[in-house]
Amino acid sequence: MPEFLDIRHLDAGYGRSQVLFDVTLGIPWRGGVAVLGRNGAGKTTLMKTIVGELPAWKGEVAFDGRDISRSRTEQRVRAGIGYVPQEHSVFARLSVRDNLAVGSLSNKDAGAAVDRVLAIFPKLGQRLDQPAGTLSGGERKMLAIGRAMLGDPKLLLLDEPTEGVWIGVIEEITERLIELAKDIAVIIVEQHLDLALRVADYAYVLDRGRVALQGEAGDVRGNPELLRYLAP
Ligand SMILES: Nc1ncnc2c1ncn2[C@@H]1O[C@H](COP(=O)(O)OP(=O)(O)O)[C@@H](O)[C@H]1O
Ligand SMILES: [Mg+2]
Repeated sequence: MPEFLDIRHLDAGYGRSQVLFDVTLGIPWRGGVAVLGRNGAGKTTLMKTIVGELPAWKGEVAFDGRDISRSRTEQRVRAGIGYVPQEHSVFARLSVRDNLAVGSLSNKDAGAAVDRVLAIFPKLGQRLDQPAGTLSGGERKMLAIGRAMLGDPKLLLLDEPTEGVWIGVIEEITERLIELAKDIAVIIVEQHLDLALRVADYAYVLDRGRVALQGEAGDVRGNPELLRYLAP
């Protein structure tokens, strides 16, 4: 059976420099999948190629049964792909409230958007009128995840959702992600292995742009080769 997100033999990169080589990867329509690998392995490049910020050089990307490999990013987002990028995921100079209003169709929707995000991350309630640039790392990630959820994604891409987040807040974000992954498909790129494998049922490990290892989260965790692929 085809997967919900079905990537086959994908090559991609920047300019002339190829980063991803023959990446084949399947994501089920619900649950978490982790993408692991050391810095520079190609994780962010893979997320950008899925959402269409980078073109696929070769191979296929199918989502929900449709070939999206030539679709523009807006079309992919409208089709149900939500993306929380590793960097620049909020408008620093806009308030939290306005970050949530951007993309809402009317003021009425903007109010509903705030309510929906506060239901996921109540902590943001004390920050609504503060510029997003003054938030802590964790609050900023919460805002970015909340914003992405406003589009009702069927697949959520999270590129390092706990990077720069104080350890005391990481647990809170992780618990929300575990909840989200019960309802929709979630791809999580993470440096924290244990956290990633709590959210994910399945994991892929990239090594220099290729899939080096894959399997059920527990099996990947126990694979003696794993640490070699994660070591700097
Ligand atoms: N904008 C860019 N232009 C050229 N090369 C890039 C660019 N962004 C990343 N790279 C290179 O692509 C490779 C993979 O990077 P990236 O996908 O960001 O890795 P990861 O997210 O796994 O740390 C690295 O060698 C990196 O230097
Ligand atoms: Mg990255």
